[in-house]
Amino acid sequence: MHFFKHKNGVLHCEETSVESIAHDVGTPFYLYSYRTLVRHYQAFDEAFKDLPHLICYSAKANSNVAVLRTFINQGSGVDVVSGGELFRALHAGADPATVVYSGVGKREDEIRYALQERILMFNVESYQELHVINGVASTMGIQAPIALRVNPDIDPKTHPYIATGIKQAKFGIDVDRALEWYREAQGLPHLTIRGVSCHIGSQLTEIGPFVEALKRVKELVLKLGDEGIKVEYMDLGGGLGITYHQEEPPHPQEYASAIITEGKALPCTFIFEPGRVIVGNAGILVTRVLYTKEGDKNFVVVDAAMNDLVRPTLYGSYQEIVSVTAKQGDEMVADMVGPICESGDFLARDRAMPCFEPGDLVAVMSAGAYGFVMSSNYNSRPRVPEVLVKDGVFHVIRERESYADLIREEHIPSFLEE
Ligand code: LLP
Repeated sequence: MHFFKHKNGVLHCEETSVESIAHDVGTPFYLYSYRTLVRHYQAFDEAFKDLPHLICYSAKANSNVAVLRTFINQGSGVDVVSGGELFRALHAGADPATVVYSGVGKREDEIRYALQERILMFNVESYQELHVINGVASTMGIQAPIALRVNPDIDPKTHPYIATGIKQAKFGIDVDRALEWYREAQGLPHLTIRGVSCHIGSQLTEIGPFVEALKRVKELVLKLGDEGIKVEYMDLGGGLGITYHQEEPPHPQEYASAIITEGKALPCTFIFEPGRVIVGNAGILVTRVLYTKEGDKNFVVVDAAMNDLVRPTLYGSYQEIVSVTAKQGDEMVADMVGPICESGDFLARDRAMPCFEPGDLVAVMSAGAYGFVMSSNYNSRPRVPEVLVKDGVFHVIRERESYADLIREEHIPSFLEE
């Protein structure tokens, strides 16, 4: 449940009118509800109260430092996938001992940085990476805490771009070879085995694949136990889906009870890396209608575009379109499109929507996860601000970029200056 709702005909985020924020900060902008963030985090955490666990919020879903701080203040750790995300997490106040680091392409400098900061563990995704981490730790004269990220080969029944635990995906280590690689890891003098991890995909709307994955990983943990290899942490990744349209994903409570039933006998601390389920419906993208074009096909041209929110273009995903000021009367079927010079630049396609007019404000719902973080400067469009509302007050947590920001890192070499 989220705190975006119409009051007296105007969309509000908690107690704050979205129209008034648009008036002050201009459009487009991302808008997050603090109370929704906290509520979603707490619901997830509470669901696992009967299992020893650590939540490592997945920074990739929304890595604004104010958002990270919100969860850190609630006791969350952080799941990072790059040196940049680690930097953000630490800047936001994360305890390094609660940070896990996944990803198939960790560079040596990133590994060194994470080792210096004493993170909880690396989720190692290849044989070569295992040796590189051992090597870096050796030059530093320390032990590197690791888990192997196993690929359990489970179909998560989601969009192919975000299915990660199947054999065809680049992620993790074949579950059938994991035992052999744990033995290898045990023989490497600068590695300390801390856990096992797996993440099978994102936007899952069924529990079955999670339970199947856990069963396979559990088998591995038991075999490791037989060999005297102790697994302290069982990291089950993220992936729980949300409702964008008509999906009916399980409530965290249902997800938790299935995991607890299957996993409670294991003497491990469980780690969860939720992203979307916490932030997805806690954020919207607010944009203004610039023009409408009527014809065989109708278009509503708004000032946000695929560079601001790429999900519809990239995954064909559905984001609900809501008028900020409640509109009575007729609807039209139209594409909602942005100013970018590509036909793939759309936020909604063939969608029934109110008969919008220039100047109207539109909320693109469910944009809190994989929204701003995936935005770019394509077509030299400055990235939009991010705003956080708590009760009746809004806070700009990231400024709108300026034209000067667009060229700040660029240089004209001297040979061009003659
Ligand atoms: N842990 C790992 C290792 C991951 O790779 C991911 C997401 C998560 C946790 C968090 O998953 P979540 O709970 O948010 O499903 N850009 C795509 C989603 C990419 C997900 C990548 N990995 C989208 O907009 O749908």
